[in-house]
Amino acid sequence: MKRLGIMAALPQELGDLIARMQAAGDFRTVTLGRREYHIGQAHGVPVVVTLARIGKVAAAATASALIHVFDVDAIVFTGVAGGVRGDVNVGDIIVADALLQHDLDASPLFPRYEVPLLERARFEPDAALGNALAVAAASFVAEQGAALADRFGIAVPRVHRGLIISGDRFIASHDALFALRDALPDALAVEMEGAALAQVCFEHDVPCAVVRTISDTADAAAPTSFVEFLRAIAAIWSSGIVARFLPASR
Ligand code: ADE
Repeated sequence: MKRLGIMAALPQELGDLIARMQAAGDFRTVTLGRREYHIGQAHGVPVVVTLARIGKVAAAATASALIHVFDVDAIVFTGVAGGVRGDVNVGDIIVADALLQHDLDASPLFPRYEVPLLERARFEPDAALGNALAVAAASFVAEQGAALADRFGIAVPRVHRGLIISGDRFIASHDALFALRDALPDALAVEMEGAALAQVCFEHDVPCAVVRTISDTADAAAPTSFVEFLRAIAAIWSSGIVARFLPASR
């Protein structure tokens, strides 16, 4: 059986995954392109787990290595995102139904957002992987959402599905946020990697999926909220979702 690739940008977004792989034994690490690829088992599933670091180029290069060097048969990205739509709150979980690069604009040669010569702006992740992530997220929220909301002083988390937009820019102002809302009214969340992963996977016919927990609402408070969420909360959400997703994924 081939392995499942699991990517995140930052260590907190992987939760306890690498520690679990080490504890399961038969664990090795390969360094390539200044990244570490951890090969082993998590929750009984053969995986390759890696940190892409931040940004679309980092995500694309890492996805490419996972496909061509580590021979994974699917890739899942787990991480945090800024909320874009008004009803998306810190702690909510978004499973992507579509991904788009909000900073890609080769107009007037090509329509805004379209990937030149690929004739598409939106990339749909794999429906089965997305469904499995949504089920895992819903069960995490049903079991732990109320207690975690109490503990961290946030609303009880909800699970959403829809458009996630990606760009090489941390969104942290009212103006930038409202420009995105105006241009892409169906966008739920913004991050810096997912659409790059989705493009590479589309080009190679490799199924992928993206799950994001909202760490901030992409406004002036975003830098503080992002740092605090990463420090205290991101790993709990990621571990809770991945623990329920992986056993159901194969
Ligand atoms: N990831 C998490 N929060 C983000 C934001 N506000 N902008 C871009 N990427 C993010």
